[in-house]
Amino acid sequence: MIKKAVILAAGEGTRLKPFTENAPKAMIPVANKPVLEYVVNALVKSGIHNIVIVIGYKKESILEYFGDGNRFGAEIEYVTQKEQVGTAHALLQAEEYMGEDGFLVLPGDNIIDEKGIIPLIKEKHEMVLLVKKHSQPSKYGVVEIEEGVVKNIMEKPVEAKSNIVSTGIYKLDKKIWGILHDCAKKGIYDLTNVIQEAIGRGHILKAVENEGKWMDIVYPWDLIHVNAKILQEISYSTAGKIEENVVIKGKVCIGEDTVIRSGCYIVGPVVIGKNCEIGPNVCIFPSTSIGDNVTVNPFTEIKNSILMEGVSIGSNSLILSSVIGKGCFIGTHFSTISGGSILKIGDEYTEVENIGAFVGDGTVIKSNVVLRPATRIGVECEIEVGNVVGGDIRSRCKVV
Ligand code: G1P
Repeated sequence: MIKKAVILAAGEGTRLKPFTENAPKAMIPVANKPVLEYVVNALVKSGIHNIVIVIGYKKESILEYFGDGNRFGAEIEYVTQKEQVGTAHALLQAEEYMGEDGFLVLPGDNIIDEKGIIPLIKEKHEMVLLVKKHSQPSKYGVVEIEEGVVKNIMEKPVEAKSNIVSTGIYKLDKKIWGILHDCAKKGIYDLTNVIQEAIGRGHILKAVENEGKWMDIVYPWDLIHVNAKILQEISYSTAGKIEENVVIKGKVCIGEDTVIRSGCYIVGPVVIGKNCEIGPNVCIFPSTSIGDNVTVNPFTEIKNSILMEGVSIGSNSLILSSVIGKGCFIGTHFSTISGGSILKIGDEYTEVENIGAFVGDGTVIKSNVVLRPATRIGVECEIEVGNVVGGDIRSRCKVV
């Protein structure tokens, strides 16, 4: 029986910038929990408590949050991948922790639940890949399967031969270490290629279809969609102080020491963290996550958005389908416009719909600023009074 797992969380997640400038992708919060916490929880619920996390880029945030894992019912150990050269290289760092035993490998930046993991553990075969049908297979490793056995994995092909993709979640055994070493000698550092090599050598890789949850966050706008889906599952719980004349409808979670002032109108699913100050007269509409230590001043409306911890929003503001990074300070009469746009990430152009703005950590936006649809602002920028901003603003820039 499988008892151990390796989670690969060393990567940066460049396509998620600006939110990965100060934290690895695995630590980006969705419904107020880092993505990696969903992975750890799924493993613990599947009966796997011995977890090795491969860390690298901005590793301190992971170490600080997860510590020895006790808080999550797990025993977590860490290995560092000094250079982020690939997933196979990352996995190789965990070799001595796994030894002779079979184990699971999971990306730390995809949301998964135990419904996917348990059948993978139960499958008798030693090497198994968890696969999932997907409407946009070309974004992933596309898997060709014959009689339940993986014949080929094609990494992000222009034309996909099937609609079944690799979740990047494997059950593997000690046979993989030799293949990983051989591949490393040839400069192959990517796990998909190593698995392909194993298949080429005649090893059987079974495919198990994931019947549970699996959500990938690649681009900033994915955060909004995934947050909305995860929020569907929260249950009502309120702590803190709720003043008179507050209306709360649907599933709403309010953290300790938070004050919801009179006249607020909150329609769930909404999660609000600890020690926040909301209102008076603030409207929060569905699919919104508000982190710890956030202040929202009077007459502001927020919908379908993520406000990370330590954000302050001025009065009379409108935040729609947007993500506001940690510690942003936003003045009064701030508006995001939700709409369609074409965004360039790396060399790719993507068309998005109904998207507001993405604002990186520690940015200061003075009063009366308007952000056009799909505006991306980097970390620690400063936007002066009254600007109408669109497109991409690089980190630490000033818009006067
Ligand atoms: C990686 C794998 C890919 C898999 C995907 C799942 O891609 O290379 O085969 O389908 O994870 O999320 P990446 O997320 O690095 O683009």
